[in-house]
Amino acid sequence: MGSVRSPWPVWSVGLIYRLLTGFRIWDHGRNTAASHPEAGKMGSFVTGATDGIGKSYAEELARRGFAMMLISRSQEKLNDVARSLEEQFKVETRTIAVDFGKPDIYSNIEEGLANLEIGVLVNNVGVSYPYPEYYLHIPDLENFITNMINVNMTSVCQMTRLVLPKMVDRSKGVILNISSASGMYPVPLLTVYSATKAFVDFFSRCLHEEYRRQGIIIQSVLPFFVATKMTRIRKPTLDKPTPERYVAAELNTVGLQSQTNGYFPHAVMGWVTTRLVPSSIVIFLGARMNRLQRTGYLTRRKLREQKNGASLKTE
Ligand SMILES: NC(=O)c1ccc[n+]([C@@H]2O[C@H](COP(=O)([O-])OP(=O)(O)OC[C@H]3O[C@@H](n4cnc5c(N)ncnc54)[C@H](OP(=O)(O)O)[C@@H]3O)[C@@H](O)[C@H]2O)c1
Repeated sequence: MGSVRSPWPVWSVGLIYRLLTGFRIWDHGRNTAASHPEAGKMGSFVTGATDGIGKSYAEELARRGFAMMLISRSQEKLNDVARSLEEQFKVETRTIAVDFGKPDIYSNIEEGLANLEIGVLVNNVGVSYPYPEYYLHIPDLENFITNMINVNMTSVCQMTRLVLPKMVDRSKGVILNISSASGMYPVPLLTVYSATKAFVDFFSRCLHEEYRRQGIIIQSVLPFFVATKMTRIRKPTLDKPTPERYVAAELNTVGLQSQTNGYFPHAVMGWVTTRLVPSSIVIFLGARMNRLQRTGYLTRRKLREQKNGASLKTE
């Protein structure tokens, strides 16, 4: 007997489901947990809030009426962002200047948090490679490892430790952990970054399952490229959006998806790279792209050094 073949291949059903989910999220609009009126009486805490994606979260949450607590390294940049949020959105703003690369900063942050009700925590701070590189060729490898693990992983666990207990007491709260598409599969030559982002993704999804019955939303956010200082992308495109555009889209997924690429074109890219293309090919192509970027970067650096050397000689 011949087998009955479905007119719909499995991948097309998956694609339609994905498109419908995308539409539902687009339609979801403004009534999400991160813009709940009650949450509006509370504060929102953003790490890495002076640039890129973190700054856009701070602006978008302030626009929704949250009082803001901002953390980054530079007090001067924090003051500028805080002033701008207060002027634009008339919200109360506080700042803490710390370096997440250091392990002994959390008692300081805890003091700054005393008597504050935090409704939304955005664990955004993160560092990447200056350029893709083979593990053993990374300059100052020992410090590079410590710094990246402290900033990308320890900060997420420790900030959650400080903020989650009060959320559990109130049975309400949202924690957004900014992982990366590089955490969805191994990305060679960005090995440590990719591994730290996979950690953030697993941490978030485990914790969401532990606490969702107590009213807490913990979301793993996995962006592809966004035009920020980190990526040095100056001209945003549909697939490489501005941080403002990315964050406005991402916040509409809160409460609907516990793991998200956050922005419709990125969701399609996520689906193609995890469901359609075998992971061995994704890893191979990622390595090839990063090898090319590495060669380009090192060639440009060498040319710059030669030019500087030549101009020094002529002086
Ligand atoms: N941009 C992308 O394409 C992309 C894609 C996927 C995931 N992500 C993730 O999204 C997050 C934000 O990325 P981004 O592109 O917006 O980065 P960004 O433009 O480089 O901004 C990073 C922010 O973090 C702060 N920061 C950096 N190191 C710090 C440290 N040691 N201690 C305290 N604050 C520190 C910076 O401020 P100061 O320098 O003043 O401290 C800045 O406010 C990161 O977790 C990144 O991995 C980004």
